[in-house]
Amino acid sequence: MAKGYRYFEAIEKNVGLLGFLTLVMVSLGGLAEITPIFVQAHTVKPPAGVKPYDPLRLAGRDIYVREGCYLCHSQMIRALRAEVDRYGHFSVASESVYDRPFQWGSKRTGPDLARVGGKYSDDWQRLHLMNPRAVEPQSNMPGYPWLATASIDGNDIMARMRALRTLGDPYTDADIAGAPKAVAGKTELDALVAYLQGLGVLNDAPQAGAR
Ligand code: HEC
Repeated sequence: MAKGYRYFEAIEKNVGLLGFLTLVMVSLGGLAEITPIFVQAHTVKPPAGVKPYDPLRLAGRDIYVREGCYLCHSQMIRALRAEVDRYGHFSVASESVYDRPFQWGSKRTGPDLARVGGKYSDDWQRLHLMNPRAVEPQSNMPGYPWLATASIDGNDIMARMRALRTLGDPYTDADIAGAPKAVAGKTELDALVAYLQGLGVLNDAPQAGAR
């Protein structure tokens, strides 16, 4: 019997050894996939002009996630003619570099929002969020009237900015210290509208913002 075959047989007949060696192989495979992600995080540079969220928009983004807007809206324009004609330049990965978690989504009960910033006035956005039927009679989007009376906790936003800084977002101490002032007196509705109005327009990366 060939020598290699004997090793093979020994492993197959010893369940503990087989289990251990399987674990070793799976771990190696896992490491090969996971390690580059950690290393990459430090090499991917956001393009000039793509900035981390300011405190108010950061608050708005978290409200967007909390309210589950992504369940009906994607933020990912595909590189297809029909999409580009309707929504603007297709999305590029670097635009979402400060989005944790990213909001690309895949469900489109409503339109894609990747470049909705500036499409409507702030007043339109407010009215629409309070009661979508007020501006779009056929809309089946739910209203979010409670956002208009909910205030934002500046300390909470500071904590979020600190957490994001540990992940690499370039917030300075001054940015973080300024957060309570930036959100003082603002409602959740203000924050969400600020977030929406910045989508696809606040960064001046060459690919972005073009309609
Ligand atoms: C049940 C699905 C649903 C949910 C949840 C939902 N929407 Fe919508 N949304 C729609 C539909 C449908 C439209 C198109 C009709 C209209 O304008 O109301 C729309 C339209 C919009 C538009 C206008 C887009 C455009 O280009 O005309 C914005 C902005 C928007 N939604 C934001 C939000 C935000 C922010 C949330 C979360 C707070 C949200 N939506 C939650 C279904 C949804």
